[in-house]
Amino acid sequence: RTLDDAGDLKGKRVLVRVDFNVPMDGGRVTDATRIQRVLPTLNELVEAGAKVILLAHFGRPKGKPVAAESLRPIAEATARELGRPVAFAEDCIGETAASAIAALKDGDVLMLENTRFHAGEEKNDKAFVEALAANGDVYVNEAFSAAHRAHASTEGLAHVLPAYAGRLMQAELDALTKGLEAPARPVVAIVGGSKVSTKIDLLKNLVAKVDALVIGGGMANTFLHAAGLGVGKSLCERDLAATAQAIIEAARENNCALILPVDGVVAEEFKAGAPHHTYGVDAIPETGMILDIGALSVDRISAAIDDAKTLVWNGPVGAFEIAPFDQGTVAAARHAAARTKAGKLVSVAGGGDTVAALNHAGVSADFTYISTAGGAFLEWLEGKPLPGVDALRRQA
Ligand code: 3PG
Repeated sequence: RTLDDAGDLKGKRVLVRVDFNVPMDGGRVTDATRIQRVLPTLNELVEAGAKVILLAHFGRPKGKPVAAESLRPIAEATARELGRPVAFAEDCIGETAASAIAALKDGDVLMLENTRFHAGEEKNDKAFVEALAANGDVYVNEAFSAAHRAHASTEGLAHVLPAYAGRLMQAELDALTKGLEAPARPVVAIVGGSKVSTKIDLLKNLVAKVDALVIGGGMANTFLHAAGLGVGKSLCERDLAATAQAIIEAARENNCALILPVDGVVAEEFKAGAPHHTYGVDAIPETGMILDIGALSVDRISAAIDDAKTLVWNGPVGAFEIAPFDQGTVAAARHAAARTKAGKLVSVAGGGDTVAALNHAGVSADFTYISTAGGAFLEWLEGKPLPGVDALRRQA
C-alpha cells in the first residue's frame, strides 16, 4: 500500500520513517542525497495538510543519547532542502515528543531525536514500539535503505499503525523488481569491490538468477588465483580459492556466463599516478599489483552489456578512487549509461562505493535507477528478506 491508499491525511499525525544516516563532517551534512530523495513524499504530505513527524536513526549510539549523534543538524539540513521550517524535539517518545507534536499545525514538519538513543529501537521492543505509535495516526516507511533492520521504527510500527510505503520506498522496490525479480532478460550483473569474503552470499545468489556475471575489482584476483593464475602482489584472499571454485561451478550449473578480467593494469605501488602497464592475466609480474581491468576486459564487459536488457551493478571494477586506475570503471559505466540513454538497457545500481564511482564517471543521471541503499541493497542482492519491506507487505 502506498500513499495513494492512505486516504485523506489532513490533520493526521503521520510518522514518516526516513533514513537520514547521511555523511557528516564537523556537524555538517556533506551529501544530502538521502534527504533530497524523500522531498517528494514530504511535500506531498505537507500539501495534504498532514502533521509530518520524521523518525530516523543516525550512527550507532547503542541505546543511549550521544551528543555527536544528535539529529539536530540533520533537521536543519532538512529544513534547507525542503525550503520550510522543520521543528525538532529532543526525544522521540514521551512528554518531550508529545508536546512538540501537540504544537504542530496542519502541514508542519517536525523531526524527533535519534530513535537509536533508546535501546528498544534495535530490540524492536513492544513497549518502545507502542511509545512511538502513541505519537501517530499513520505510519509511512520511506527508509528502504534501513529496511534490512528489524527495528521498532523500521519494522515494528508497521504492525500497530496503518502502514504505507512512501514514494522513495515505492521507487526503490519498483527498481529492484525490474532489476532481478521480474527483469527483462538477458540480465547481466557487474560485481566489484575488494573482497570476495564480503560478497559470497551475493555471488551465490546472483549466479542462480542472472544470465551473465562480471566479476571485477580486487575480488576478481581471488578468482584468477583459483583458476591457477599468478596475481603477483595483488589483493587476493588465497584462503577463499575453494569458495571461488564453488561459485565458478555454480555459475556453470546455472548457465550463467562468468566474465572475469582477461587483462589488468598493473603498478608496483597503490598510489595515484603510479607507473603502470597492462598485462594479460596469464602474465602478471610477481612484483606488481592489479589495480584496474585492462582495455580487453572493458571490451568484454561492453559486449556483455550490449547483449543484455537489464544490468544490476554493485562495486567498482578497479581502484576508481586513484587515477588512472579509475579508467575501467569509468569506461564500463559510460557504456552502460549510453545503452540506457538509447533505450536499450534497464540499469540499476546501488551500494556506497558504486554510487561514488558512477558519480565520478559523471553518469549517475543516465542510469535507470540508483538506489540510496548500501547494506540493504547488498542484502537484497543476496536474496535475503528485508524485514522493513516484509512488514509493509504483510499489512497490505
Ligand atoms: C545505512 O546507512 O546503510 C542504513 O542507515 C543502515 O545503517 P546501520 O548499518 O547502522 O543499521
